[in-house]
Amino acid sequence: MGNFARILSGMEDRQRIMELRQLLHRYNQQYYVQNSPEVSDFEFDALMRELSGLEDRHPELYDANSPTQRVGSDLSKGFVQSKHRYPMLSLDNTYNEQEVRDWFQRVSSLLNEDFEVCCELKYDGLSISLIYEDGKLVKAVTRGDGVQGDVVTDNIRTIRCIPLVLQPGSYPESFEIRGEVLMPWTSFERLNAERELSEEPLFANPRNAASGTLKQLNPAVVAQRQLDAYLYYLLGEKLPEDGHYENMMAAANWGFKVSDRMKKCRTIQEVMDYIAYWDTERRNLPVATDGIVLKVNSLRQQQILGFKAKSPRWAIAYKFQAERQLTRLESVSFQVGRTGAVTPVANLEPVQLSGTVVKRATLHNADIIEGLDLHIGDMVYVEKGGEIIPKITEVDLDSRPMLIGDKVRFIDTCPECGAKLIRYPGEAAHYCPNTSSCPPQIKGRIEHFVSRKAMNMDGLGPETIDLFYQAGLVSDIADIYSLTAKDIARMERLGEKSASNILKGIEKSKQVPFERVLYAIGIRFVGETVAKILARSLGSMTAIRNAGLETLTAIDEIGEKIAGSIVSFFGQPANVALVERLTAIGLQMETAGQSEGQGSALAGKSIVISGVFEHHSREEYKELIEKNGGKNVSGISGTTSFVLAGSNMGPSKREKAQSLDIPLVDETEFLKMIGEKPDNTPNNNNELLLPF
Ligand code: IVH
Repeated sequence: MGNFARILSGMEDRQRIMELRQLLHRYNQQYYVQNSPEVSDFEFDALMRELSGLEDRHPELYDANSPTQRVGSDLSKGFVQSKHRYPMLSLDNTYNEQEVRDWFQRVSSLLNEDFEVCCELKYDGLSISLIYEDGKLVKAVTRGDGVQGDVVTDNIRTIRCIPLVLQPGSYPESFEIRGEVLMPWTSFERLNAERELSEEPLFANPRNAASGTLKQLNPAVVAQRQLDAYLYYLLGEKLPEDGHYENMMAAANWGFKVSDRMKKCRTIQEVMDYIAYWDTERRNLPVATDGIVLKVNSLRQQQILGFKAKSPRWAIAYKFQAERQLTRLESVSFQVGRTGAVTPVANLEPVQLSGTVVKRATLHNADIIEGLDLHIGDMVYVEKGGEIIPKITEVDLDSRPMLIGDKVRFIDTCPECGAKLIRYPGEAAHYCPNTSSCPPQIKGRIEHFVSRKAMNMDGLGPETIDLFYQAGLVSDIADIYSLTAKDIARMERLGEKSASNILKGIEKSKQVPFERVLYAIGIRFVGETVAKILARSLGSMTAIRNAGLETLTAIDEIGEKIAGSIVSFFGQPANVALVERLTAIGLQMETAGQSEGQGSALAGKSIVISGVFEHHSREEYKELIEKNGGKNVSGISGTTSFVLAGSNMGPSKREKAQSLDIPLVDETEFLKMIGEKPDNTPNNNNELLLPF
C-alpha cells in the first residue's frame, strides 16, 4: 500500500472507530439501563468485535472510555454496592463452530495432557453472586461492572429455589456460588400480558424482565414475579473436588438448583454433538438460553490456563444464532391503544420463524423507523430470538429494488379520528390527545373496564363492545350499566340467552372490590399492584381524588409519575363526572370495612409514635393510625408527616423532628384528628402521666 492509500485508510478507520464507539455506547445504555435493546445480541457482538479489531490495529487511538474497555454495568441507584471478592468476568463469545474447534485445540496444546470439557447451557438471564457463610445465605450481589455490584439480598431471598440455609453436608465454611437469575417463559408471558392491559411498556425478553424485576426496590414485587435461578460456578478456598462438574453435583446436594443438562466430554466431536443437540432442543426448555458454555473441567488445569484481562482461557461460550428471516415489508399501519399511544406495525409477507408464521412485526416508535430508514417494498430481517413479538432488525439494502418504494414516515394525525398527534418530552411514543371521542380509545377503555382482572363481566368481548359502540349504546364505561335486555337481544348474533348472561355479569360487577374498580377505571400507570397499594393506603375513591401530589408520593411505591397521572386524571371534570356516575350506580368506592367506623383522616400520612400516652397504649395508637388510613413508621425522616408525641419523648427524637421541621402532635389533638373524643379513662397500661 502506498503512503497516500495508507493515510486514507487510516482516516477511514479513525472515523469508523468513532462511529462504532458512539453506537455501542448507545446500545449499552439501552441494554443495561433502559432494558430495551434496539439491536440483537448478534449484531451488538459483531460491532463490538469490529471495534476491538480496529482498536488493536490503532493503539494510538486508545480511549479508556471506549465501550471495549468495560464489561457493561448494571449498577443502579437505590442499592448499596459491594466489591466482588473475585471479579465477575465474562466469557469469550463465538458464533462460529470453527472457533470452538480452535479453542479446544489451543487448550489441548497449552495443557499437553488429557482433559475433560464440561458442556453446559448458557442461561440468558442476569448473573448473580451468592455468598454463604456457615451454610447460610449472607449476601447476594449483581455483577455490576464486574468489580462491584448491587447488593440485592432481600430480592434474591424471594426466589424460591435459592436456598437460604443449606442441607446438612460437607460444604465449605465460606464460599461463593454464581449463577443466573431467570424469568421462565410462562411468568414472562403472564407479566407482559398484565403490562399490556395496563399499557405499561412491555419487556422485550425474559432477561430484561428478570433484570428489571431484580432492580425493584420492593422485594414484595419481586416475590410476585416468580423468578428462577440456576447456579453454575463455585468459588472458594476449600472446594470439595478438583472437578467443576463434581463440585456442581456436590452443590446440588447442598440444596442448590444446578442444571441436570451438564455433560463432561473428552473429544471435540462429543462437544459438537452436544452443541448440535441443544441448538434445537433448547426450544423445549422452560427458560431462555442463548448458547452453550464449555469449561475445562479440572480446577488444576483451569489454573494452568489462567485468565486474560476480561475472561478465562479455560472457558468459551458458543452462542446460538438468533433466528431471523428475510421477508418483504408490504405496508405499515398505525394502531391506537386505549391511552391514545400510537404504535407502528409492519405488515409483512408471511414467513415461517421459530415454528410460527409471522405476518406482523412491531416497529416500536418514530425513532426506530427513522433509524432503519425503511421503505415500502424493502426486504427486511425479522427476528424473534428471546422475544415474543417479532421485530425488524435490519433492512437488506442489497436487495432494495431499483424503483425504491415510499419512505416510511411516522404519521402526524391520528389514523382513527384525525386529531393532531402529540409527543411528550422525553417519551418515544406519539399520542392521540382526543381521549373523549377517538373510537379505539373509547372501546379500549371499555374493554379494559370489563376485563377479567378488572370488573370481570362475562360475555363482553371486543366484538360485542364494538357492536354496542356502533349502535350508539355505549360511549363510556358507565353506559354499560344502562344496557337493557332489549338493547342486547336486538344485536346481531346476540339472543335473549346472551342478554341475560351479560346483564347478570354487569349486575355482579357491583360487588367487585374497590381496588379492582380503581384498576378498571383505567388511570394511566395504575396497574393492578398500584391500585391495591392505593386502595390499602387511602381507602376510598374520594380520598384518592382529593389527595395531592404530596400525599400520594408519601405512599411507599408511589412515585411522581404515578402520582402525577392520578392528579391529572381527577383534574379533568369529565373523569370526575364519570366516577360520580359509577358511584351513583353502586360500584364499590371504598375498601371493604372502611365504611364501618373507619376513615381516611390520616390517608397517606407517615406517622412516628414516640413517648408514653394517657388514653391508649402505643399498640392501640398504631392500630388507630392504620384504621384511619395512615402508616406507622419507626424512624423520623424527611417524609414523616408528624410525630404523635406522648410524654417522655426522647430528646434525640425531639431534636431530629425539630431539625426537619416535622410537627409534633399531642394525644388530644391526634384524637380530634381522627374524630375520637378523648374520654377520661386513662390508659391502664401506663401510669397516669402528664399530658404532652
Ligand atoms: S460461567 C468466568 N456458566 O454468561 C466466567 N456463565 O458471558 C464464569 N452464563 O456473566 C461464568 N450461563 O451471566 C457460566 N453455564 C454458565 C452460564 C454463564 C450463562 C452467563 C453469565 C456470565 C456470562 C458470560
